[in-house]
Amino acid sequence: MALRNIFQEGEPILRRIAREVTSFDERLHILLDDMAETMRKANGVGLAGPQVGISRRVIVIEPEEGALTEMINPVISDAEGEQIGAEGCLSVDSSKNCQVKRPMSLTVSYFDRNGGKHTERAEGWKARVICHECDHLDGILFIDKAYRGKKK
Ligand code: NI
Repeated sequence: MALRNIFQEGEPILRRIAREVTSFDERLHILLDDMAETMRKANGVGLAGPQVGISRRVIVIEPEEGALTEMINPVISDAEGEQIGAEGCLSVDSSKNCQVKRPMSLTVSYFDRNGGKHTERAEGWKARVICHECDHLDGILFIDKAYRGKKK
């Protein structure tokens, strides 16, 4: 495994729509291993392909320590409710951390590293992390969604 460079706000790749993964091969597995290592080293709870310079629809999340999940070609559906809470990002200076409104719960469908399909319901903090990382795959950063209303 190897640490990868984390691209910072201003790099064009963070604003591109990432492409779907079509090959569940060794190259993908190395990328996923590297992403998890890079995320943990940076004390992050999620990392998306574009953040390490790979414009592919791949995310790793670890909303709780030890709960690492790899999601390939993730698709969110059935979002319900809302939550307003603080977010930051390994690609954005922490001085820009801000409140963001996210759904309280959602369903996410994705493939694992071997091409197996999964669908799960997530809520709360985990739902927030999934939304944040999936946004990266569409060139969206959390600062685009800064919530300026009243805190709940
Ligand atoms: Ni981020």
